[in-house]
Amino acid sequence: MSIAYFNGEYLPLDEVRISPLDRGFLFGDSVYEVIPSYAGEFFLLPEHLERLRRSLEAIRIPDPFAPGEWTALLKDLLARNADPATPDLGIYLQVTRGVAPRDHAFPADAQPTVLAMANPIRPLPEAVRVEGVAAVTAEDRRWERCDIKATTLLANVLNRQDAMERGAVEAVLLRDGKLTEGAASNVFVVLDGRVITPPLDASVLPGITRWRVLELARELGYPVEERGISADELARAREIWLTSSTREILPVTRLDDRAVGAGRPGPAWQAVHAAYQAAKPGAQVSEPMQSGGAA
Ligand code: PDD
Repeated sequence: MSIAYFNGEYLPLDEVRISPLDRGFLFGDSVYEVIPSYAGEFFLLPEHLERLRRSLEAIRIPDPFAPGEWTALLKDLLARNADPATPDLGIYLQVTRGVAPRDHAFPADAQPTVLAMANPIRPLPEAVRVEGVAAVTAEDRRWERCDIKATTLLANVLNRQDAMERGAVEAVLLRDGKLTEGAASNVFVVLDGRVITPPLDASVLPGITRWRVLELARELGYPVEERGISADELARAREIWLTSSTREILPVTRLDDRAVGAGRPGPAWQAVHAAYQAAKPGAQVSEPMQSGGAA
């Protein structure tokens, strides 16, 4: 049984008891993070904690901990969940406005509820590396503040479910004819040799993987653009990628039942995926090429 952190205590996840009056439960009045770790070490933890701080500030929940306290708590939780069978773990962390009699307006004196738990991150299956995944487009019907990592995710849940029922792994969302992001991922396209992703505004979550992938693409020498992407450009893209902390960088090879590019994970994905794998904690440093070996 995985160990959770709940309001100052570490305990088995199935022993956590959340009040029916918790505003996270009643109103979705809460924010969250999903923070990956590999071989017992967090990946991009300061960036995730900074986004958590901004989400809390945006919805006016007082941050219950200083960054150093968050780090200590999360490292402790990771150590308590160490298991050689699942070396890579994503920590799900949620902060709600707390417990109070049900009323939409903020309570005067509620204490934030803090829950954190660990879930395994599985390596990308071989079939995905070779064949890629399918995605479908859908209308983005979410609210106006998708830059806040809020748990109020009903539109995302319905979009993801619809995608699954159509044989796809993700819904790629369009608002006013422009690409925003996936139901639980950011989206990149490769078009005319350029790596392009929508700019950061209130219609997009500032994904931590997005940020790292932009850096890696630049380091690899790709021209990179953060700009609006039309539905037509999405349909013409040579490559489409989905990025998130749990699924890393997924190559989309079918969109709405049509092949993307050559219908296989493309060369830019191969390069950026390899660079991302090499950047993760515990990555194997590749052996120097043997003389006379295959080039
Ligand atoms: N979701 N956009 C949305 C709407 C997301 O929910 C997520 C991640 C992302 C990617 O962000 P990041 O690279 O920081 O994980 C973009 C998490 C994984 C989830 O809800 O489980």
